[in-house]
Amino acid sequence: MNQDIYLIGTGQTPFGEHWDKSLKNLMDEAVTAAIDDAPINALDIDFIVVSNMLGERTNDQAHLGAMASSLLPHRPPALRTEAACASGSVAIHTALSLLESGRAETILVVGVEKMTDVSPDEISAALMGAADSEKDIPSGLTFPGIFGLIANRYMHEYGLTREQLNLVSACHHANGVSNPNAQFRSAIPAEKISQSPSVADPLCLLDCSPISDGAAAVILSNKHESHIRIAASQISTDTLSITDRPTLTSFPATKDATDRALEEAEITREDIAHLETHDCFSIAAVINLEDLGFAQPGTGIRLYEEGNRDSQIAAPTVNASGGLKACGHPVGATGIKQIVDLTKQLTSSNKRYALAHNFGGAGATCCVHILENTNV
Ligand code: COA
Repeated sequence: MNQDIYLIGTGQTPFGEHWDKSLKNLMDEAVTAAIDDAPINALDIDFIVVSNMLGERTNDQAHLGAMASSLLPHRPPALRTEAACASGSVAIHTALSLLESGRAETILVVGVEKMTDVSPDEISAALMGAADSEKDIPSGLTFPGIFGLIANRYMHEYGLTREQLNLVSACHHANGVSNPNAQFRSAIPAEKISQSPSVADPLCLLDCSPISDGAAAVILSNKHESHIRIAASQISTDTLSITDRPTLTSFPATKDATDRALEEAEITREDIAHLETHDCFSIAAVINLEDLGFAQPGTGIRLYEEGNRDSQIAAPTVNASGGLKACGHPVGATGIKQIVDLTKQLTSSNKRYALAHNFGGAGATCCVHILENTNV
């Protein structure tokens, strides 16, 4: 960052099925909560960035920048970002760039998605817009299918067992119990994960993040201060199709964005106290921990195995919010909600650094943010 930018307000709706609320209602709820949380009033916001992936397809609604702007009395300038499931973190990156450029001083970033209004077939097809329409879609793949292939390859290369993989969703569901905004708030015993219906072998229903509605908002400012400073913001990209990658068991964009973010923040992995990582599927969480550098290749599961932590590498808390698995994954809101949760975690633990890792597609866009608690 070329200047100090602070996170001065956060808000979100509960994630879940909101049959009775429109995109605009959800957006309004998160925006109002973020403004109420900030030491400003609505008129201090001089730009809005909206994050959304599927509005045209699932809600017949585009032009979400203007929609968000119409929620405020003075209608500030607004734009929308789209980067599939990474849309939210890319919106934050865009807002930070606008602040750094001097074009704005206080920006509202709001992510919203309403996915449950269409049939399961329609939403699966819509999400495949994040993959390669020439290479992946004609083969009939869905995202659970893509990550099923990845899980098979990972198990083949590293010997991960189905029983071990159960630990990931069991842990994230246990964490979600205490999150009032989580879509699912029940603890699920590990053995129940692989007993849930098969979705894309070896992945079962409880290995998958769900279909969700919800919105999350943050307010970023270089004029008003708070105890949470943005220490780094990095985006990295990869091929849309996994068929163009040299390996299925690592997402290089995660490694690249993480290395650059740590360099930007001038810290090391050992400084990170809290991590929210993109567990769209259980296998992704295992691979992400390795790509983020918190485990060696093939050993990510150790961070979920009680009493078997990799003593070589200091481990942060992982998805203490419940992650995408328990919280839900309204794709345009997820990257922003990770920042909302890490702000709460840093504030209550009084630790210094937290890292948000959000990716789109099978790691084709990866965004890493590092937050610093300046009270520490
Ligand atoms: N985790 C936990 N519970 C889930 C769930 C999930 N992922 N998905 C559904 N459920 C629950 C539902 O609440 C429902 O419970 P109920 O019967 O008590 O109401 C039950 O399981 C069946 O739900 P249903 O909506 O009929 O499931 P589905 O078969 O239509 O969809 C998936 C299940 C896994 C296929 C769907 O959630 C999915 O596609 N997830 C992946 C989304 C995705 O690809 N996102 C992008 C990532 S890159």
